[in-house]
Amino acid sequence: MATSDIEVGKQMEMEEQLDFSDPLRHLRNTDELETEILPSQPVSVQNQDIQLSFTCRVPEDQIQILLKVDASPGCGGLAWPAGEVLAAYLALRGREVLNGKTVVELGSGTGLVGLVAGALGGKTWITDQLPLLEIMKTNVEINNLTPCVAVAELNWGEPIPDSLPRSPDLILAADCVYFEPAFPLLVETLDDLVHNASTEVLFCYKKRRKADKRFFALLRKRFTWEEVQDDPNKSVYSREAISLLRLFKKL
Ligand SMILES: C[S@@+](CC[C@H](N)C(=O)[O-])C[C@H]1O[C@@H](n2cnc3c(N)ncnc32)[C@H](O)[C@@H]1O
Repeated sequence: MATSDIEVGKQMEMEEQLDFSDPLRHLRNTDELETEILPSQPVSVQNQDIQLSFTCRVPEDQIQILLKVDASPGCGGLAWPAGEVLAAYLALRGREVLNGKTVVELGSGTGLVGLVAGALGGKTWITDQLPLLEIMKTNVEINNLTPCVAVAELNWGEPIPDSLPRSPDLILAADCVYFEPAFPLLVETLDDLVHNASTEVLFCYKKRRKADKRFFALLRKRFTWEEVQDDPNKSVYSREAISLLRLFKKL
């Protein structure tokens, strides 16, 4: 192993220990972020509202989202960096891409990504575990998105509820790789939701731990992937170890 590999390995180990003692620490290291696509994260959040704005290219427009954030139902109640990257990408692609499409988001947390998908015209289901459903419902209501964004409980690894579309046009997942016991469950749910090549899967991921590679080892059994290349913000979020991937099921 080259010296630099050893150093990288040591650094990763240290990062892993820090993550274990303080899983939300990445949300606090926002001083170096240089772009408005990654607005500052609140440090310790209970029942706060934040206003986020996303640039839509076609037609030129701003999508405004009022987001209730609250860490008390779980870490998903905050706005996570990969979620903001994915929401910004959807907005930049514009309304034409999503208009009339069915969209399912996994691990939605506050619902931010799915709210933007709904605001762009997608018929969207935002999903998460039971404790997060309340904050998701509130965020749908305060953004007047009730006609186009539905909230559903979806626990990864469990059967897909009948209320969700069988074969969505688009599946979204952001910042869902952080808890190792959930890795196989997430892969299973992605696999259950994709039935043919016409379903696009956008998967936005922030690299945090060495263990993440075990998620990708599992994912590789069912999917291939490529980095999204047409996002003008890619060079900015790459510096924050965030990747936006398009997954393809091995059919
Ligand atoms: C880090 S948060 C990301 C939230 C949101 N996607 C964002 O980017 O702001 C991960 C989300 O995955 C959800 N999650 C974790 N394990 C899950 C499971 N087994 N089934 C469903 N959702 C899960 C959590 O509740 C949480 O909301």
